Amino acid sequence: MVITPKKIEQIFQNHQTLIVVGGNWGDEGKGKVIDLIMGGYDVVARFSGGANAGHTVYTSSGQKLVSHLIPCGLAQNKVCVLGRGEFFNLELFLKELEESKAVLGNNIADIFIDQQAPLWTPYHRLFEMYIEIMRGERKIGTTNKGIGPLEGMYKLRLAPVVGYLLEKDLLMKSLQVLYNVLKPCLDNVKDQINETIPDPQEILEKLLSDSEKIKAFVTDTAFLLDMELKKGKRILFEGAQATGLDAWWGTYPYVSSGNSVAVGAALGTGLPMEKFGATIMVAKTLPTRVGFGPFPSEMWERQAAMDFAKENQQLFAQGPLRNEFLSSILQKINSGQSSAAEMSQYFQVLGDERGATTGRGRSVGFLDIPWLQYAIRINGPKYIALTRFDMLSGLKSIPVVVGYKHRGQILPVGKLPAAWELSQVEIIKEDWLCFEEDISGISSADKLPKSAQEFLSKLEKHLGVPILLVGTGPGREAMVVRN
Ligand code: GDP
Ligand code: IMO
Ligand code: MG
Repeated sequence: MVITPKKIEQIFQNHQTLIVVGGNWGDEGKGKVIDLIMGGYDVVARFSGGANAGHTVYTSSGQKLVSHLIPCGLAQNKVCVLGRGEFFNLELFLKELEESKAVLGNNIADIFIDQQAPLWTPYHRLFEMYIEIMRGERKIGTTNKGIGPLEGMYKLRLAPVVGYLLEKDLLMKSLQVLYNVLKPCLDNVKDQINETIPDPQEILEKLLSDSEKIKAFVTDTAFLLDMELKKGKRILFEGAQATGLDAWWGTYPYVSSGNSVAVGAALGTGLPMEKFGATIMVAKTLPTRVGFGPFPSEMWERQAAMDFAKENQQLFAQGPLRNEFLSSILQKINSGQSSAAEMSQYFQVLGDERGATTGRGRSVGFLDIPWLQYAIRINGPKYIALTRFDMLSGLKSIPVVVGYKHRGQILPVGKLPAAWELSQVEIIKEDWLCFEEDISGISSADKLPKSAQEFLSKLEKHLGVPILLVGTGPGREAMVVRN
């Protein structure tokens, strides 16, 4: 059992509930922040997304665990709740459970799955392929986990839900309706998909046989969470995806389909707003994006960055090749002679920026203050956790985006243009001094070099929200708690 550092425990002791959300386009290190904080909580509840998420935590023995569907709480034996707002894929859930057991042993915490969470079927996967084909050059670049179809079909009142796994007739009827609706679309792209479309009976049998293993987990989780709060238990709400990927407040249509922002915690768990204490927003020092869609501070081109990661996997492995590559580009960056491509490649390799779910290369951007000011407006966080600050080690300075100009006007703090115009903003950059010292692994604020502290104070002034946590590496201890 991991103990939360005393300082963090004291800060959060008045928050019986705490929401953790992502401030950028995902992969900010929400898993790591949750790992650090959850020692002081009893329950960890997911409220959005599904198997598209990939949250990395390390166990006390240093083993890596990537959670997709099951909350990170599993790593510390916390009660884990998959709320109604989380899209449920039974096949992947069982796979993840087995993989987690292999790391954590068989003594696994209690897990509860909401009875009315939308239930994944192979039709959702096929339908997602159909939609992406139909979108052509406007494709999203999804994780192929059927997330859009799950949310969409639910809203069309066509989705089977988890509880139907215990009601054979209901499940069969709803699979049949889904099949009737989707079959004509799927037939249209039969040649491109190149798969047979399973009939409802086949799907029913597989789901029912798998469902035996989770029957005991299915419940009304909103009632359960309310009871836990009444008993005085403390609940951490684990956000998935991020502000930029939220279906309503992100860069639509290049978004995921869930309610990833803080208010999603209420929608996705069924607890009323008044039960939510505070939000901590996780922001990545150098934000990243996978898939397509606007990314104002992006260093290079999306496809080029993704291809670079795919074609140069040997550079990402620890060893002399990686070290030589990094030090030669670092010299160029520090002498002001690096190209945009080199800058991006440096940070991609340094941060091993490859997706925890799909393995795709993540494209990297500069620290983007106007975007974060927007994310703060939407999420209303009480605290910021700034991860991957160690990525600036050894740099003399780095460009930071301090403003957006749109149609010749500097936009006021917190204001963005319409999502479809976001890629046209002109970014205003300033060079900020970094630190030549390597801060990797530092865990106390007073050990941070003066210039690093000044960087944080300056950023904090722009954001108007305290930067409470600062990540200095992927390891569990590599986090500074600021006063
Ligand atoms: P999540 O989806 O927000 O939980 O983030 P992911 O787990 O997908 O990706 C975050 C990656 O960054 C993981 O590999 C983490 O181990 C790593 N990470 C988290 N915080 C830090 C940090 O402060 N510094 C560095 N270098 N890596 C970090
Ligand atoms: P975590 O929780 C990064 C992206 C996909 C794609 C878009 C839509 O680990 O931060 P979807 O499959 O959800 O319909 O894809 O959203 N995406 C993520 N990117 N981190 C994630 O989750 C993501 N979940 C979805 O790459 O661009
Ligand atoms: Mg992730």
